[in-house]
Amino acid sequence: MNLISYSADDAVFYGNFYPLLRDAIDRICAFVTDYSDSCRAEGKRDPVEHIASRIKSAQSMKAKLKRRGIEVSPENSLTAVHDSVGVRVVCTYIGDVYVMAGKLREWKDINISCEKDYIKHPKSNGYRSYHIVCSIVENGVEIAAEIQLRTIVMDCWASLEHQIKYKKTIPNQEEIEKTLKMTAEDFSSADEKLEKTRLLIDSGASPLPE
Ligand code: GTP
Ligand code: MG
Repeated sequence: MNLISYSADDAVFYGNFYPLLRDAIDRICAFVTDYSDSCRAEGKRDPVEHIASRIKSAQSMKAKLKRRGIEVSPENSLTAVHDSVGVRVVCTYIGDVYVMAGKLREWKDINISCEKDYIKHPKSNGYRSYHIVCSIVENGVEIAAEIQLRTIVMDCWASLEHQIKYKKTIPNQEEIEKTLKMTAEDFSSADEKLEKTRLLIDSGASPLPE
């Protein structure tokens, strides 16, 4: 499943680059989907739950460029900001995230500039994910892309946290942040238990007591 949202405003702002941004997303998603399909074809467990993607909205891109003191233009949007294209790959288990990151690392079509492991090194608020910042060339034009890899559990926490707080000012901030952080630790402990279950399942043993 690929959840893509496109808007007419974005097409106007990005102009001739817009189809290239779409092509970049399509190519990255196709790579992940092909890997997913190949696992199933080989009778192996598919590590990918779903893929979501987006082109950064014109509004958000303009605001980010202004914040960074960069001239607002479609050209600057492609490389001066690292996430004009964003793809989120939601995997089943923690180990699957690292397998998928490894596959992307082997893929010749992208040029990886940086990897951020917020799973081994969570953000202070409890955020966990694995980010790959890269670029991909479409029709001779270099396009920056951020690929976020996370488990279903991490995705669940990040979506809730985003709704509640991310980049917004809220009342009772301190208390809410504390609760979110504690919840992140609970979620992470659930993820680790599920990872152990996966290892049991993959080794052929029963994860449940008889
Ligand atoms: P920007 O946040 O895009 O300005 O770049 P950055 O260099 O700070 O990168 P970072 O890896 O911190 O974040 C990039 C993206 O990851 C964000 O746009 C979000 O989609 C996601 N993200 C990062 N931190 C958080 C967080 O604390 N909560 C949630 N829900 N998402 C986050
Ligand atoms: Mg950030």
